[in-house]
Amino acid sequence: MLRVENITKIYKLSKKQMRLENTKDPRKVAVNNVSFEVHPGEIFGLLGPNGAGKTTTLRCISTLIKPDEGDIFIGKERISVVHDDDKARGHFSFLTSELKLEDHFTPNYLFNFFGSLYGLAEDQIEKHKEKLFSVFGINEFREIKVKQLSTGMKQKTSIAISLVNDPEIVIFDEPTNGLDVLTAKTVTDYLETLRDEGKTVIISTHIMSVAAKLCDRIGVIIDGKLRKIGTLQQILDDTKTNDLDDAFFIIYKEAHEAEGGVI
Ligand SMILES: Nc1ncnc2c1ncn2[C@@H]1O[C@H](COP(=O)(O)OP(=O)(O)OP(=O)(O)O)[C@@H](O)[C@H]1O
Ligand SMILES: [Mg+2]
Repeated sequence: MLRVENITKIYKLSKKQMRLENTKDPRKVAVNNVSFEVHPGEIFGLLGPNGAGKTTTLRCISTLIKPDEGDIFIGKERISVVHDDDKARGHFSFLTSELKLEDHFTPNYLFNFFGSLYGLAEDQIEKHKEKLFSVFGINEFREIKVKQLSTGMKQKTSIAISLVNDPEIVIFDEPTNGLDVLTAKTVTDYLETLRDEGKTVIISTHIMSVAAKLCDRIGVIIDGKLRKIGTLQQILDDTKTNDLDDAFFIIYKEAHEAEGGVI
């Protein structure tokens, strides 16, 4: 289980960033007092527009950055991600479509390399590799250098490698970004498999259909604040709508009004 408790992340903007953002305020509150819980066997989706704070939240969870306030806890032992990040790290895998693999190596070599970085035994690495390479169709490309692989195969390889440690919590920033429909389906099907195996899965997306189809519960984040949280049905009931697109517009409008029209 994962509990995000009241996290806030404030970036300090450089003069150049302030000019680009057209603001005189050197502080950007990217995530504003966000709390939620994700259980084993569940896919939780953070849904929000560009700049809403999705990636920042996921980075805080996966120990890549520290929140300014709040904390994140894992499991019954409540391991603190902020205060015990070394211990927490072994429980996660953070996946992003932006992960770049070194061109000169093969999927096989890279998988073994990252497996040994995690301190896995050779037979464990082989076991995970057999499973993941077969799920993502990498077997016939395992000895081909990354630079010769197609974009889709590179992404599938990077996903397989990110899962080398068989983590209990899988965090995936924009899982279908840049993927064609077939590759996207392989990836979302596998996230469902992980969920069914009892893993805790957290994704971010700005695509309504991905959230509606894949996520057991959805948190709608707008301008750093979590505006709504629940199952698809709860969100539709709450907003008296029939689809997530309509629900999102209503939530967005309410957020806009609540902020005095500044979003
Ligand atoms: N390193 C940084 N320094 C300053 N501001 C940042 C930094 N990273 C993100 N931001 C700002 O924080 C806000 C939230 O960004 P974040 O990347 O978390 O949003 P997002 O929901 O992932 O958006 P997207 O859909 O575009 O990926 C944005 O306004 C962004 O410009
Ligand atoms: Mg993002």
